[in-house]
Amino acid sequence: MGFFTKDIKTMNDLFMHGLQDLYYAENQIAKSLPDMIEKATNPQLRAGFEKHLSETEGQIARLAQVFELLDAEAKGERCPAIDGILKEGRDLMGEVDDEDVMNVGLIAAAQAVEHYEITRYGALMAWASELGRGDCIPLLNANLAEEKATDKKLTALAERRVNPQGEKKSADEKKSAKRSASTARRKRKSPARPAAKSKRNGAKKARRRA
Ligand SMILES: [Fe+2]
Ligand SMILES: [Fe+2]
Repeated sequence: MGFFTKDIKTMNDLFMHGLQDLYYAENQIAKSLPDMIEKATNPQLRAGFEKHLSETEGQIARLAQVFELLDAEAKGERCPAIDGILKEGRDLMGEVDDEDVMNVGLIAAAQAVEHYEITRYGALMAWASELGRGDCIPLLNANLAEEKATDKKLTALAERRVNPQGEKKSADEKKSAKRSASTARRKRKSPARPAAKSKRNGAKKARRRA
């Protein structure tokens, strides 16, 4: 079930459905990660996916603790959003032969998942606060912190490790930053302004003489 259905009438309903939705999503992600680990040929990417699989298992356990705090059964509600994101990732894994392209595609697919999770944890934390359920927030925040850290690592991998264009781009950017800095240093050292001033003074003197 999606977020916005006629069964959701109160903020409490919305919070509970959001939790069930994310519980379903985390379980689906845990099922998908082994395939992504298998397809990733870049060692850092593979290690990152392996780490995130064990984190995801911990996240499912934290969500179960949130349900416990709320005296509710830990259960998932089918979420079409995560189903679509994961399906797109599976389609990619079936279509790409080139290993490098596969690694880059896997990073993008994984980041789509992380961004989905980040928005949902953010919303759940805001709703928990609104409902006076501050006791749930540290557990949700621990999951959110792991999703954000994973997203950051994936970006770094895309830019520096896996994507040769990204690596070239950042090397080019560094070179151009270095060039700008040395031009700025040269300008600071250059006596351009005093020379211009003395030229103006010379012109003034010439006018006075005339
Ligand atoms: Fe997660
Ligand atoms: Fe995640």
